[in-house]
Amino acid sequence: MEDLGALRGKYLTAIKGAKDEAALEEVRLAALGKKGEISLAMRELGKMTPDERKTAGPALNALKDEIDAALRARKAALADAALEERLRAEWLDVTLPGTPRRMGTIHPVSQVMDELTAIFADMGFAVAEGPQVESDWFNFDALNIPPEHPARQEHDTFFMHRDAGDPRPPHVLRTHTSPVQIRAMQAQGAPIRVIAPGRVYRMDMDQTHAPMFHQVEGLAIDRTLSMANLKWVLEEFCRAFFEVDHVELRFRASHFPFTEPSAEVDIRCSWTGGQLKIGEGDDWMEILGSGMVHPKVLHAAGVDPDRWQGFAFGMGIDRIAMLKYGIPDLRAFFESDLRWLRHYGFSALDVPGLASGLSR
Ligand code: PHE
Repeated sequence: MEDLGALRGKYLTAIKGAKDEAALEEVRLAALGKKGEISLAMRELGKMTPDERKTAGPALNALKDEIDAALRARKAALADAALEERLRAEWLDVTLPGTPRRMGTIHPVSQVMDELTAIFADMGFAVAEGPQVESDWFNFDALNIPPEHPARQEHDTFFMHRDAGDPRPPHVLRTHTSPVQIRAMQAQGAPIRVIAPGRVYRMDMDQTHAPMFHQVEGLAIDRTLSMANLKWVLEEFCRAFFEVDHVELRFRASHFPFTEPSAEVDIRCSWTGGQLKIGEGDDWMEILGSGMVHPKVLHAAGVDPDRWQGFAFGMGIDRIAMLKYGIPDLRAFFESDLRWLRHYGFSALDVPGLASGLSR
């Protein structure tokens, strides 16, 4: 019988040298397979005398076990190395910036609507909505603007079509977001705190006016709300929106049929070198109309004016978007020029929030 020592040396060396699992399997077959050298040697045992077998048997068995153990150990080592190699080869640097894909941008008006919604939500205002094609009752009458009132003319209203002879007054494209005050109070009653951002329409077109533009209405009704609360809310809003520590607002007495008293609100600013700064300087810029909701308006909306009172305001969104983001021409807002949109648009993934930041 072949020298066991030689067999042992041969296979242990082969096992050590096997570069992968396939090579190792070949070694296993050559040693322990059906026709493997060690298997054949074990078959030879039968031809031995009992005495010979007594020493050769245990020695062969020990060799078989040793080779087997060496095979397993090598197999485990090869598997570890393979895993190691795979981990190395497939390693990904997750801190690398992703590959940017163009997916359009958020229009500055949408961005600003999202921003102001986040700010007012933080102060407890929910979002209310109303239709853009509105009845003249909601747009005018319920807001204390009767048919003969001059404010109806000032609004440069677009009228919807009515068939000749139809006695009903035509619907209108809403001229402001104030009708949503009525709808929200009818739906929810008092107390109430809502904002209503949306499109409004007036027959007007020049550098600073478009026939369609955007407003946000604010309405807060409770027991004891006053102009002081209005002022705080507006200052708080301006500070958050313009992202400055200090703002100064100026209330100018004004007139709206649906508020009494009424005030137009200006914000202190400066224009030096064409650069707008909010909160400093000697200029004032009008940003909104406001006042205490007129008792007749509360009444029209089904809220008892003897028990409830509050304030309302209406602000031009396009205007404050231009101010905040330094956009010079209002008309460009609505021209859908892709180059303009790419320049002034916002990333769709940066959702404005008070904690995460309003704008980047
Ligand atoms: N609706 C008014 C406008 O369009 C703004 C406003 C709203 C004024 C609410 C007072 C209160 O000019």
